[in-house]
Amino acid sequence: MIRTAHRIAQVEEYYFSKKLAEVRSLDTPDYRTINLGIGSPDLAPSVATVQALIASAENPANHGYQNYKGILALRQGIADFYKKIYSVSLDPESMILPLMGSKEGIMHITLAFVNEGEEVLVPNPGYPTYTSVAKLAGATIRTYEMEERLDWGVDVKSLRKQDLSKVKIMWVNFPHMPTGRIASHHEMKELVDLARENNFLIVNDNPYSLILNNAPLSILSVPGSEEVALELNSLSKSHNMAGWRIGWVAGRKDFVEAVLKVKSNMDSGMFMALQQAAVEALKNDASWFDELNVVYRGRSVVVRQLLDELGCRYAEKQSGLFVWARVPQHVHNVEKWVDEILYGTKVFITPGFIFGDAGKNHIRISLCAPIEKMQEALERIREWKKKGTGQVQTKEKASI
Ligand SMILES: Cc1ncc(COP(=O)(O)O)c(C=O)c1O
Repeated sequence: MIRTAHRIAQVEEYYFSKKLAEVRSLDTPDYRTINLGIGSPDLAPSVATVQALIASAENPANHGYQNYKGILALRQGIADFYKKIYSVSLDPESMILPLMGSKEGIMHITLAFVNEGEEVLVPNPGYPTYTSVAKLAGATIRTYEMEERLDWGVDVKSLRKQDLSKVKIMWVNFPHMPTGRIASHHEMKELVDLARENNFLIVNDNPYSLILNNAPLSILSVPGSEEVALELNSLSKSHNMAGWRIGWVAGRKDFVEAVLKVKSNMDSGMFMALQQAAVEALKNDASWFDELNVVYRGRSVVVRQLLDELGCRYAEKQSGLFVWARVPQHVHNVEKWVDEILYGTKVFITPGFIFGDAGKNHIRISLCAPIEKMQEALERIREWKKKGTGQVQTKEKASI
C-alpha cells in the first residue's frame, strides 16, 4: 500500500474541480445548464493580442524553453501598465516576475517565505487558495474577518490589538473576491502600516482592479510599502485571458528574487508566443476597458433582478466579476439551497461557504455569461418559484 503524503490530508480537492463535473453532468442538448458559478471571462481578448499570438507561434524560433524571468519586453510592458494604471514605477529588470497566472504565485510566495508552524493571515471570506497552499506548506492558518458591518472592510484597529508576532504573510485582495469590496488608499495604507509594525510580508492579490472599478489601486502605491509588500496581478480577469495563464508578481528586488528561486525549480519558462501576445494585451487602451465594463454593467443589472427574485440582499456598489449577496432568512442551508436551484433550474450559482464561514449565508453570482443566458436563468428561476421551491421541471426530470 503506497500512502500519500500527510500534507494532502490537510486539503480538499478544489471545490470547483468536483462541483463543475456535477454541473456538466446535468447538461442535456435540449436543456442546457447555465453556469453562473465561475469567474472565467467569456469575452475575447483584444484582436491585437490574438494576432500577436499567431504571428509569434508561426516563428519556428519561438518554440524552445524560455528565460525563467520572462522576456524583457513583457516585464517592460508590465512596468508601463503599472505606471499608466496605478502611477507606480517598477524597475522591469528587478521588480517584476511573470508567472503562469497569479494562482501559482500564491504557492511560490508561500514556499519562499513561510516556514512550518508560522502563521499566515487569510481573509474570511476569501479566495480559498491562500488557505490551502498555506496548509500544504505546513503553516498555521489564522483568519481575519472581512466585516459585513464595515461593508466588508477590515477592522485594522482590532487586528492591532492582537498578538501578530508569529504572522509571516498577510494576504489581502482588493478589489476583494467574493464581496466586491474595494479599498481606499487610506485603508491600504493602514494595512501596510500594520505589516510594517509587525514585520510581516503583506501581499495584495489584485486581479480585479479594472473590472467595474473607477479607482484602480496598487498596494505598491502606498508610501513605505516597498519594505513589506508584494503584489500579484494577472491578465486572466481584466484582459479576458484566464486560460492563457499569465500573471506576475511585483515588488522589491530581494523579495522577487526569493520567489524566482522557488519558481525556477518548478517550470521552464513561459511559451514565447504567450509572452509576446501579453505585451500586446498590456497595451489595451481605456476604450477597450470601457467597452468591457459596459457589458459587465448590463449583465450585473440582470443578475440583480435574479437576486431580487430569490429574495437576496446585496450592496449596490461591487467591483470585479461577481455579485455577492446575502440569502433570505428562511434559507438555513445555503449549500442545499444552491443545489435545489441547480437541480430545479439547471442554473449553477456558488454558495458562499466555500470562501470561509463568514460566507455561509451568502451566494456569489458570476458576470461571465452572455446576457441572454442570464435572462434565461432569470426566467427559469421565476418558473421554479411559481412551481414551489425544490421542484424539478417536469420536462427535465427524466434527464437529471
Ligand atoms: C482572488 C483571486 N486571486 C487569484 C485568482 C487566480 O487568478 P489567475 O488566473 O491569475 O491564476 C483568482 C481566480 O479566480 C481569484 O479570484
